[in-house]
Amino acid sequence: MNPILRFLYWNMNYHTEHHLFPTVPSHALPQLHQLIKDDLPEPKPSVLAAYREIIPTLRRQAVDPTWEIDRVIPSQSMETPSPTSPSPSLTMPSLTFTADQPDDEGWMAICLTDAVDDGQVAKVDHGDETYALYRVAGQYFATDGLCTHGRTHLAGGLVTGEQIECPKHNGRFRIEDGQPTRDPVREPLICHQVRIAGTSVELRVIPE
Ligand code: FES
Repeated sequence: MNPILRFLYWNMNYHTEHHLFPTVPSHALPQLHQLIKDDLPEPKPSVLAAYREIIPTLRRQAVDPTWEIDRVIPSQSMETPSPTSPSPSLTMPSLTFTADQPDDEGWMAICLTDAVDDGQVAKVDHGDETYALYRVAGQYFATDGLCTHGRTHLAGGLVTGEQIECPKHNGRFRIEDGQPTRDPVREPLICHQVRIAGTSVELRVIPE
């Protein structure tokens, strides 16, 4: 990106760096880039090339908000995690379940009670709708699946204590009641009912 566009765009040509370290101010992003560029994917050679990727991606995500580009990350400079180190759910493939048809009272069976680990979040699909199912301190909770800020699926996010952190801009919501707890999210998530029935976790959707 040329220097004029960089200035107008607040150095957001370093967008990956910005999302990895959101507290680094925009004027320092070029220095940050120099420090970490060997661990980052190959940048696009021009603004035009970036838009050639962005526009078809937006079209595709309008139909399937969970679709994402499979970005190649250089492996030689990445640290290999030790087998004993905890892996944050942000980097783990999300669990996905398909809800059964609802019974007369609207309850849908999702999964077995031990299918989601404590501190994990799972994606639950039912028809065109998608939800996030969380397990926190042994208890299950459910919310709408898509972040109210940028419609990214929260099942790719990180459960931190009693909050879910969105993987896109690091906004947070309280899992129990869906209230936003960190910028840039402002709109709460809709929460849904969850119950344990025998060995199954069941979800009942609260209409908007
Ligand atoms: Fe979730 Fe922006 S999309 S914080």
